[in-house]
Amino acid sequence: MCGIAGYIGYRDAYPIIIKGLQRLEYRGYDSAGILLYNNDVIISKTKGKVSDLEELMNSGVSKEGNIGFGHTRWATHGIPNDINSHPHTSNSGNLVIIHNGIIENYDSIKKELIKRGYTFQSDTDTEVLVNLIEEVKKENKCKLGKAVQIALNQVIGAYAIAVFDKTKPNELVVARLGSPIAIGIGKENKEFFIASDASPFLEYTKNAIYLEDEEMAIIRENKDIEIRKINDDSIITPEIQQLKMNLEQIEKGGYDHFMLKEIYEQPHAITDTYRGRLNANSGIIRMSGVDDNIDKFLNADRIIIVACGTSWHAGLVAEYLFEDLARVPVEVEYASEFRYRNPIINPNDVIITISQSGETADTLAAIKLAKEKGAFVFGICNVVGSSIAREAHAGAYTHAGPEIGVASTKAFTTQITLLTLIALKLGKAKGNLSTAKYHNYLQEMEQIPKKVAALLTPETDAIVKYIASVYKDASNCLYLGRGYNFPVALEGALKLKEISYIHAEGYPAAEMKHGPIALIDENMPVFVIATKKGHYEKIVSNIQEIKARSGKIIAIVTEGDTEVKKIADHVIEIPETEEALTPLLTTIPLQLLSYHIAVMLNKNVDQPRNLAKAVTVE
Ligand code: F6R
Repeated sequence: MCGIAGYIGYRDAYPIIIKGLQRLEYRGYDSAGILLYNNDVIISKTKGKVSDLEELMNSGVSKEGNIGFGHTRWATHGIPNDINSHPHTSNSGNLVIIHNGIIENYDSIKKELIKRGYTFQSDTDTEVLVNLIEEVKKENKCKLGKAVQIALNQVIGAYAIAVFDKTKPNELVVARLGSPIAIGIGKENKEFFIASDASPFLEYTKNAIYLEDEEMAIIRENKDIEIRKINDDSIITPEIQQLKMNLEQIEKGGYDHFMLKEIYEQPHAITDTYRGRLNANSGIIRMSGVDDNIDKFLNADRIIIVACGTSWHAGLVAEYLFEDLARVPVEVEYASEFRYRNPIINPNDVIITISQSGETADTLAAIKLAKEKGAFVFGICNVVGSSIAREAHAGAYTHAGPEIGVASTKAFTTQITLLTLIALKLGKAKGNLSTAKYHNYLQEMEQIPKKVAALLTPETDAIVKYIASVYKDASNCLYLGRGYNFPVALEGALKLKEISYIHAEGYPAAEMKHGPIALIDENMPVFVIATKKGHYEKIVSNIQEIKARSGKIIAIVTEGDTEVKKIADHVIEIPETEEALTPLLTTIPLQLLSYHIAVMLNKNVDQPRNLAKAVTVE
């Protein structure tokens, strides 16, 4: 959480930083701030969004300078206000810092610094850190880089930081532990970019270094970057990566919102996920991360899936897939619970972690724990080069392309696609799937993008939009599904609550009788996934139970359905497919529905309140 963007070189830093912050705003949007240096330090910061910062800068503030950095904040310590916004300055006014993360022992450090005469303006842990660096620099009479290093060895927590020293205004010092930092390298080392991800500098360079945990870099104009280990001072030779992302991928491309663009990208995104991996004609699923470790997968006593939020819902779908197709016992865990529960992990367990961002703090910590206990960890991520991708023993990328809307959409369906491929591969290798069944799944998988596209037509959109207009003012909604579509019900409810702020609950349809049925009256919209394959008769009975209590029924049904149509208030049809693949289709109208309701309620679809895209704090 929090976005960092900076520049040092020969161009004007301001436009690069401000544009960079706009691209990183998905990481947090409680406040924004900037430092520029042009013979003197200029700092502007404000509560609110990057657009508020721009407005402030347009009110006569100097935008000159070839060095600087900016920050877009997701508040951890201290409420979102102007004072708590980053950058923060040390007491002398010489050092300036921006920070993404949490310094856990900030309180004891602050008390010690107060004893030594330091004063504090804000409630943040970041202001404590910049003053600690100042104190260390003074005590040790050292340069900024050394002072940062010594100070970081005294703090507990997570950070990505950038620090500037007014007395040495041609360098920036950056460091990371737990939160990402990418460094873009311009031509002939004449300019450098720093950012939480590579999006702020894509138009300037495709060469990037991603700092590893416990590494810091001293970046000077016209010089090589110096990278060191924070704890033992060893010098690191960085690996320069060639970025494959392009600008088009991170822009809205004519859509009103990133979320809508990303919903509509799903046919392509799903194809990109299986491209080069699935060959239905030859009956082959090739995934090097799985192939290279096939014995571990085949001999696993169980698979433990660890993730958060929407990725956890994809994990729940995978539980059905792995148990049904590959007959491997599966447990699905919230990363935050798993890591603190003293879980039983055996060397013969395979841990699969799922994360769009690859930066979720709890998931990352769960990987470290599982590795300590000797388990094999397979990471499924979208963001290439992310921390989780690097921390896992092996893994696979979803290749969904950048997901910028805070509410996850294409990440979910591509994660399920990837997990389906793994389950099919294991099912075949273990002899649990007949050749005919296996081939049928592969053929059907290849049809999924077309079937998703068939749900993204103006006709379906009009139906969903109409339903959205009828139920947009509901205070509560229920989402019900069974089997493979129970996790889809959970995901549908999550989508609605996070972007429209309507309270929604997902339940296994049969569980309704054990409590939630008490909520049903004529004001309760109930979204029911009632596809033909998958406990159809049972779910029809559940729908009857809702009907008997005057609940409003919005059903997602298979094309040609007649039975549910007779009793539901509204139906949305999806193309027929194998039961195991239905989540890839049933999810789509629920995403669209949440989107339209949020737009009708005038909510900020891409940046819902209190949320951030990459949850890098626990
Ligand atoms: C919901 C959503 C979140 C994320 C969760 C995990 O739309 O986006 O629930 O799914 O924060 O994030 P990743 O997948 O990046 O680990």
